Amino acid sequence: MSQPLLSCENIHKAYQLGRTELPVLRGVSLNISRGEFVSIIGSSGSGKSTLLHVLSGLDVPQRGQVIYDGKPLFEAEGVRKIPVGRDSRPSGGEAKTVRGSSDDRLMEGRRNDLLNAAFGFVFQFYHLLPEFDVLENVVLPQMVGRSVAGWLENRTAGSTRALELLDRVGLKDRMHHRPNELSGGERQRVAIARALVNEPAVLFADEPTGNLDGRTGQDIFGLLKNLNKAGQTLVMVTHDAELAKQADRVVRIVDGRLQ
Ligand SMILES: Nc1ncnc2c1ncn2[C@@H]1O[C@H](COP(=O)(O)OP(=O)(O)OP(=O)(O)O)[C@@H](O)[C@H]1O
Ligand SMILES: [Mg+2]
Repeated sequence: MSQPLLSCENIHKAYQLGRTELPVLRGVSLNISRGEFVSIIGSSGSGKSTLLHVLSGLDVPQRGQVIYDGKPLFEAEGVRKIPVGRDSRPSGGEAKTVRGSSDDRLMEGRRNDLLNAAFGFVFQFYHLLPEFDVLENVVLPQMVGRSVAGWLENRTAGSTRALELLDRVGLKDRMHHRPNELSGGERQRVAIARALVNEPAVLFADEPTGNLDGRTGQDIFGLLKNLNKAGQTLVMVTHDAELAKQADRVVRIVDGRLQ
C-alpha cells in the first residue's frame, strides 16, 4: 500500500480548565490518502475541531504525532512546546514547555510553511477580512511568506489565479463587494476560494455548511465534492450525517477515540 499523504498516530489532547484536566482526544490514529475525501462526525464537544486543528498543525497535541508527506509536524514529545493561551497542559506531565530551542523553532517554522502552502482551511464562520473586498480576501494568502519584491513580481499571476477561483465558485461578478454585502453561502464560497488560492495539497473544512440553510449547505457541499472529484484531498468536519455519508469515508469520534 502506498504511504498516506497525511496521518496521525495515537494523538492525545487535553485542555486544562482551572485545576481539572479535560481529556478530549485519547489516542486517535487516522490515515488519509492522496485524493481521499474523509468526513469526521461526532457529537458537539466530542473533539472534531480539536482533531482538525491538530491534523493541520494549528494546535499541538500533548502526545502522538502527525506525519505529512513522510515528515513529522511536531517536536519529540519530551521537548514539545504546548502553545500558551490555549490553556493546554501536558497530561501526565511528560511534555515540558521549552521555549526557543532550535528544534522548536524548526518545527514551528515547518508548520507555518505547511499552513501557508500545503494546507487550506475553511471555517464555519468564514473568517473573511471585512475591510477588504472579495478579490483582495482571496489574493491575500498568496502574499504571506513572500517578500514585497517577490509579491510584486507575481502579482498579475496571483490576481489571475484568484479570479479563476472566484469564477469557479460562481462569484467573479461580486469581486469588488465587501463580505458584509454577501449572503452566508456566498461568503463561504469566498472562504473556499481563499483556502484554495495557494493550491493546497489538503483542504480542511470545519463545519463549512454548519451556518447555512439546508439547500445552500448542499450547494457548498456539492462544490467541495467537485473539488475532490478533480483530485483535491479533503478532510471535513460536519454535524450533518447525510452530508457526511457522501464522502469516501466517515469516521466518528466517540469518547476521544475514532470508531
Ligand atoms: N481552548 C480550549 N480550552 C479549554 N477547553 C477547550 C478549548 N477548546 C475546546 N475545548 C473543549 O474541548 C472539547 C472539544 O472541543 P471541540 O471544539 O474540539 O469540539 P467539537 O466536536 O468541534 O464541537 P462542536 O461540534 O460543538 O463544534 C469541548 O468540551 C470544548 O469545550
Ligand atoms: Mg467544532
